[in-house]
Amino acid sequence: MKHLITLSDFQKETVEELIDRAIKQKKGKLRLSVSGKNLILLFFNPSLRTRTSFELAMQQLDGNVVTLNVGGDMWNLEIEDGVVMDGAAQEHIKDAAMVLGRYADAIGIRVFAEGKHWEKDRQDPVIDAFARYAGVPIINMESSLYHPNQALGDIMTIKEQFGSDIGGLPVTITWANHPKPLPMAVANSFLLACSMFGMDIRFVRPEGYDLDNAIMEKAHELAKKSKARIMVTDSIEKGFRGSKVVYAKSWGSIRFYGDKEKESKHRKGLSGWIVDDDKLRLTDNARFMHCLPVRRNVVVSDSVIDSPSSIVYDEAENRLWVQRSVLHHILGGARKQ
Ligand code: CP
Repeated sequence: MKHLITLSDFQKETVEELIDRAIKQKKGKLRLSVSGKNLILLFFNPSLRTRTSFELAMQQLDGNVVTLNVGGDMWNLEIEDGVVMDGAAQEHIKDAAMVLGRYADAIGIRVFAEGKHWEKDRQDPVIDAFARYAGVPIINMESSLYHPNQALGDIMTIKEQFGSDIGGLPVTITWANHPKPLPMAVANSFLLACSMFGMDIRFVRPEGYDLDNAIMEKAHELAKKSKARIMVTDSIEKGFRGSKVVYAKSWGSIRFYGDKEKESKHRKGLSGWIVDDDKLRLTDNARFMHCLPVRRNVVVSDSVIDSPSSIVYDEAENRLWVQRSVLHHILGGARKQ
C-alpha cells in the first residue's frame, strides 16, 4: 500500500523522481493521467492551497475527486474505540473509513492536532485509523506531525532556484512569532526533507520551541546518510549568517502544550522573532520561504515578503505540480505522451 503519511515513507530516489516529474510537468515536457481513478479528500480543518491544488490536480489528471468537510458536509466522527456513542459524533471513524475505502482509490486527509495532549496528538490518530481501516492509500494533507506535500513543493522550489544539486546548501529554518500556537507539521516535514537532501541546516528557535524528539532523531538519521549538517541554535546571528534560504514558520511549544495561557505568557518578549530586512541582511542574499497562510508584519515584514527575495508564490504554485506527481505515483494510470 503506497501511503504518503510522511516524506520518509518514500526512498530519497522516489522523492527525487516525484520532484523531477513535477518540474517536467510544469515545463510542459510531461503529461500524466489517472483517468478513471477516484480520490476523496477529507478536511477536518480549513485550507486554501491544499484543497484547491489537490482538486485541480486530480481534475487535470482526468480523475474524479469528491471533497468532504467533516462536521459540515458529513457526520461528526467518533475517534475513540469502544465508547458509548451517545454524544455529538454520529458515525465511528472505522465505519467511515471502511465505506469511503469502497468508493475511493485513495483518500486525502487534513487533520490538525486537537491541541490538548501532545502524547495523544503525536500518534496522528485519525490518519492512523484511516490507514488501518480504509484499505486504500492514504495521503496526508497535513496532520499533527507531517505535511509531506508541502515539503515536496518546498524542495521543488529550492531546486528551481539553485539547480538540482542542493547538497550543502545553507538553509535557515526559523521559528516565528504568532498570536496562537500552530501545528509543527510544516517545520517537521521541511526539516526532514532538508535532512534527506543533505543541506547545511540552521534550525533557529527560542528556548522552549524544540521539535518532538522523534522528529529530531529521524532528521539526524537522514542527515547521517545524506551528509546533511544540522545546527540547532537560539542565536539569530548564528542561524541567519550566510544562509541562501530562510524558511519561516511558527509552531506551538511542546513544553506548554494544551496550556494556551502559559504559552502566551512565554511568548511575550518573542515579538522580535519576525523575519525583517535586518535579519535578511545577515544572509547571503537568501530567498524567503513560507508555506502560507502567513500573518504579515508578525511572522514576516511586508518589506521582505513583497521583495524580489520572496518566493512564496512559487512555493504555493508548486504544490499543484508535486501533487500531480504524487497522485500519479499513488494511483498509477497510463501516461498520455
Ligand atoms: N500551505 C498550506 O497547506 O496551505 P493551506 O492551509 O491553505 O492548504
